[in-house]
Amino acid sequence: MSHRAAGWHIRLRTTSDHAGIEAVFKSCLVEFPWRRPETDEVLRLRRTLSGCDCLVAHEAQAGIIGFLTLEREKAYVAHLFVHDDWRLCGVASGLLAVARDLARASLQLDVDEQNQKALKAYKAMGWTEKVGANPARGGQRRLSGP
Ligand SMILES: CC(C)(COP(=O)(O)OP(=O)(O)OC[C@H]1O[C@@H](n2cnc3c(N)ncnc32)[C@H](O)[C@@H]1OP(=O)(O)O)[C@@H](O)C(=O)NCCC(=O)NCCS
Repeated sequence: MSHRAAGWHIRLRTTSDHAGIEAVFKSCLVEFPWRRPETDEVLRLRRTLSGCDCLVAHEAQAGIIGFLTLEREKAYVAHLFVHDDWRLCGVASGLLAVARDLARASLQLDVDEQNQKALKAYKAMGWTEKVGANPARGGQRRLSGP
């Protein structure tokens, strides 16, 4: 998927993308003061990357501007992060659309209850809460995509 006006495109990650993926992730973690120390979150990301599909949004000058990790068989999105400079221009919607095509099913993910920005974004994209589901962590909500 490409966004001609904004100049980014979405593709599967390669091993040379890992530094860019971690840079985006770390830049976003400052918005999650309630989460565990950064090193724990980065280790969790590395474990996920070693066993899951990962899509990246790439722009020629900026490099990696966003990424999504996907447990394809469960249609479960473990990470979705877009660099602050590239928000509100369809990167997350694009990553989710490509992930849905890969999974061939409606996607699910867990979002922290404190993460009001993300909850608003998912609502705008037509995601709904899956009541009675068991999110990965306490203090999260399980959402289902359209
Ligand atoms: C949440 C996040 C992934 C959204 O990424 P994005 O690329 O800006 O999202 P998009 O541009 O694709 O926007 C999708 C829709 O959500 C809306 N939206 C995005 N951010 C929003 C916000 N902060 N408040 C309200 N609506 C928002 C957009 O307006 C758009 O709606 P539309 O389709 O009606 O126009 C991004 O803000 C982010 O990376 N946040 C930090 C990490 C995070 O919270 N990840 C989610 C973990 S579960």
